[in-house]
Amino acid sequence: MSPSSPTASPPDVGVLLPAAGTGERAGAGVPKQFRAIGGVPMLLRAIRPFASHPRVGAIVVALPPADAHRPPPWLADLVGARLSVVPGGATRAASVRAALAALDAACHIVLVHDAARPFVAVETVDAVIAAATQGVAAVPAVPVTDTLKQVDDGLRVTQTVGRAGLWRAQTPQGFPRVMLEEAYRRAGEPGLRATDDAALAEAAGFPVAVVPDRPTNIKITTGDDFALAEALASR
Ligand code: CTP
Ligand code: MG
Repeated sequence: MSPSSPTASPPDVGVLLPAAGTGERAGAGVPKQFRAIGGVPMLLRAIRPFASHPRVGAIVVALPPADAHRPPPWLADLVGARLSVVPGGATRAASVRAALAALDAACHIVLVHDAARPFVAVETVDAVIAAATQGVAAVPAVPVTDTLKQVDDGLRVTQTVGRAGLWRAQTPQGFPRVMLEEAYRRAGEPGLRATDDAALAEAAGFPVAVVPDRPTNIKITTGDDFALAEALASR
């Protein structure tokens, strides 16, 4: 769409990519966000759907401090007016907060996307932007399909938990910027232990809604997930 098109929406969406973890559960070696899937670094795969999106005006990547000061060449090539890199913090939420503080003021909608999710569909990005533009926090999610068991320390099942109404939260989660900033402000230091941003918006009393997502938008967590990722990348 040309910038003069009357139907073009302004590039008012900012994207925060927390990528400052150590990837402990994925095992030793290069931190998982820098590891290649089908020959392409996972973080680069996570950036691409946003870098090519017409509504996205700015992308901020939070990296481990040493990498932020010297990003890998494939990332350094992208750093410029639209993409910047900041040092992350000790927790995911601290990294998100650092990236949010560095985001261009023109971005009124903010998406937060795990660098560990390299397979997000553009339809999911569009649906999350649409919901956040309506003023609600949007969480892409999939319904739970397995039967859930609660167990004690001895692995004995104490009860079967009904799965009706339970969804697994994924990313990118989308927010009006003022909402996300207020949620982080109110959460304070304890909020920096949160593993997802929508939880902070919920705690602050903001409306949060689920947007149906695809099960292929997986988070790469363990070494085994890389085998699954290779299979998805080769489709
Ligand atoms: N993350 C971050 N800053 C941290 C911790 C995590 O930016 N201090 C990012 C990760 O890089 C990842 C996302 O948050 O993209 C989701 O976290 P997770 O999957 O838990 O990644 P890690 O924390 O790196 O992995 P682990 O918990 O196994 O160490
Ligand atoms: Mg972690």
